[in-house]
Amino acid sequence: QKLKVITIDGPAGSGKSTVAKIVATKLGWIYVTTGAIYRSLALLFHEANLKEKDLGSIERFTSFINERYRQESLSGKVFLGEREVTQEIKAPFVSELASVLAQEDSVRKRLLPIQRKVVLNNNGAVVDGRDMGTVVFPDAPLKIFLTASPEERAERRLKELHSNGMKTNIKELIKEINERDIRDTNRKIAPLKPAIDAITLDSTKSTQEEIARIILNYAIQKE
Ligand code: C5P
Repeated sequence: QKLKVITIDGPAGSGKSTVAKIVATKLGWIYVTTGAIYRSLALLFHEANLKEKDLGSIERFTSFINERYRQESLSGKVFLGEREVTQEIKAPFVSELASVLAQEDSVRKRLLPIQRKVVLNNNGAVVDGRDMGTVVFPDAPLKIFLTASPEERAERRLKELHSNGMKTNIKELIKEINERDIRDTNRKIAPLKPAIDAITLDSTKSTQEEIARIILNYAIQKE
């Protein structure tokens, strides 16, 4: 049976999740944004007053996530058991802690089966993250690497945060995004990079609908 998965990797704010959502909706597939899993872990760590140094507790938190993590495909809402964390995990301090924790081998190893489980239980999925095409779904028949200029990415994040009622300014965001990209790109394990067989698309001057259409055309060719 053919693995029905399209992977979309790329840096922060490249438009991955919006594009993934459009493509998934058009195909009648689910969409999974794996950053939300790393973010959920970071939120739990933060609430327990733990720092990246406290990795001794990692097993407890990852099994909690394994049992309770749930993402509603269409709304994109994220739940840990009964608790909805969709908005909380978008906070900039969560982004930062997520990317710090994501450097750790023990974290990545334990979150990997969760990501595969969410996808393989379904009939088709569009997944976004940093290592979808390289590590989590190396056999995916269609892999996209989505980029955009740093300014454009910061602008998009700013709009998203503001529409969620969070206050931040563009300078701070550019700094936060840069630091995160450097960390994600330079880490030893599963760094952010295109898979050898990925198609790179630049979304700086295109709308997310246009990018989605290009991906859908590739998907049709692969069928
Ligand atoms: O995609 P998003 O910005 O929500 O991801 C938050 C952080 O989680 C990223 O900066 C990255 O460090 C980490 N992440 C990862 N691998 C993934 C998805 C996210 O390392 N597949």
